[in-house]
Amino acid sequence: MTRVLITGAGGQLGQEVKRAKWPAGTVVAAPASGELDITDPAIVRRLVDEFVPDVIVNAAAYTAVDRAEDDEASAMTVNRDGVQNLVDAAHRVGAALIHVSTDYVFDGSKSGWYVEDDPLAPLGGYGRSKAAGEAAALSAGRSVVLRTAWVYGALGSNFVTTMLRLAPEREEIGVVDDQFGCPTAAADIASVIVTVVSAFKDGAAPPERIYHVCSPDDATWHEFAVAIFDASIHGFDGTCKKLTTPEYPTKAKRPANSRLDSSRLARDFGLVLPSWRESLPLVVAELQERGDV
Ligand SMILES: NC(=O)c1ccc[n+]([C@@H]2O[C@H](COP(=O)([O-])OP(=O)(O)OC[C@H]3O[C@@H](n4cnc5c(N)ncnc54)[C@H](OP(=O)(O)O)[C@@H]3O)[C@@H](O)[C@H]2O)c1
Repeated sequence: MTRVLITGAGGQLGQEVKRAKWPAGTVVAAPASGELDITDPAIVRRLVDEFVPDVIVNAAAYTAVDRAEDDEASAMTVNRDGVQNLVDAAHRVGAALIHVSTDYVFDGSKSGWYVEDDPLAPLGGYGRSKAAGEAAALSAGRSVVLRTAWVYGALGSNFVTTMLRLAPEREEIGVVDDQFGCPTAAADIASVIVTVVSAFKDGAAPPERIYHVCSPDDATWHEFAVAIFDASIHGFDGTCKKLTTPEYPTKAKRPANSRLDSSRLARDFGLVLPSWRESLPLVVAELQERGDV
């Protein structure tokens, strides 16, 4: 029997991890943020001591990228100190930690695809807090960092739900066409997490400490938006206009290149995520069957 504790279980990834296909005999605890606030060391310790997980999956995070520019301290409290609290509590009961991280630890200036050992160079407060969280996670005896990017899913708010919401309201939607990344379905990341949990069985651990977990094919945000409209039963009658990054200013700088090479995951686990072009229609169909968009 494997006991798995999921943090941030109310988030878009946390919900997918909770509803993933767990092998028989897995006991999953998935408290929401109100019940398990990872910034409170006493609460973390109490829940971990009570549940005694074999593996903690940390899907909790401060994810407000632009807000973090004005309030990096709050991002650090969750994304660095919260992770340290999990590391400390995991140590008490001998649990392993699977920690989820982001492409925002890189500055996006590399011309090719990012590999796990590329130097970290976050552009903003969110990225710095996630880089600090990776360091905290890696200080644990048995832990692994899974870096992903451009996450979307049928549970929670993301770029896909935003595009589908805007489509009936707008005649023109401008989308950035000079940032590249790998749109990755939360459900596909959750399937990987199920396999990585099994790699911690009986005191074992995966061969490496960091894995990139992304769809194998890239896109610009504009390409992704067009595919979203194509997958929608309602389509989009207006114009999807290509923008440059300066034409769509945001408080926090985004990496221009977020392509994460996931071949280490393929080598060690035999796992290759589906193309985002395969996973996207499933997500759009679920949202539309539910009548959300
Ligand atoms: N979304 C992306 O495009 C993306 C890209 C790369 C990596 N990631 C990483 O993927 C992971 C999951 O992100 P997501 O997209 O699922 O984000 P999300 O939908 O914003 O979910 C984050 C969850 O963390 C919870 N949380 C926040 N502060 C907490 C605390 N102090 N204690 C416990 N829970 C807390 C939130 O709960 P409340 O809502 O109740 O605060 C929310 O349920 C994060 O590590 C993120 O950095 C995401």
